[in-house]
Amino acid sequence: MIVYASRTGNVSFVVSKLNLPNIEINEGLQLGTPFLLFTYTDGLGDIPSQVARFMEQNNSFCRGIIVSGNSNFGHHVFGMAGDKLAAEYGIPLVCKLDLRGYPQDYEKIVQFYHQQVKEVV
Ligand SMILES: Cc1cc2nc3c(=O)[nH]c(=O)nc-3n(C[C@H](O)[C@H](O)[C@H](O)COP(=O)(O)O)c2cc1C
Repeated sequence: MIVYASRTGNVSFVVSKLNLPNIEINEGLQLGTPFLLFTYTDGLGDIPSQVARFMEQNNSFCRGIIVSGNSNFGHHVFGMAGDKLAAEYGIPLVCKLDLRGYPQDYEKIVQFYHQQVKEVV
């Protein structure tokens, strides 16, 4: 499962290209199976608050983190929500996309998913 949060549509666009099972984060979502988290970056390198709350409850099933950001914000905060979550929970950062990223990013995500998520369900 890909669990995602999208505010302006970039993350949901990429999710729609992956052909993998997915669900958007909503308040109180609880997962009991392995998943990849896909989030955008807010503020100045911040984790969106609904994503932070979701991860407090569900981090033990998270196998990897994918983040979208905008490199125009500067390298010190670009996609930093992903770096912060990866560090906080000791979960690998699979991919950092600039806005909607590139097909190579999508391939990397799908490959990681099949290796680390699908086969251990
Ligand atoms: C208010 C606001 C703050 C943002 N802050 C950052 C940031 O600190 N670092 C970054 O890399 N991108 C930042 N972004 C860019 C978004 O993370 C990026 O556009 C992302 O692709 C949005 O995904 P979404 O369209 O799925 O919501 C910000 C965007 C907005 C609107």
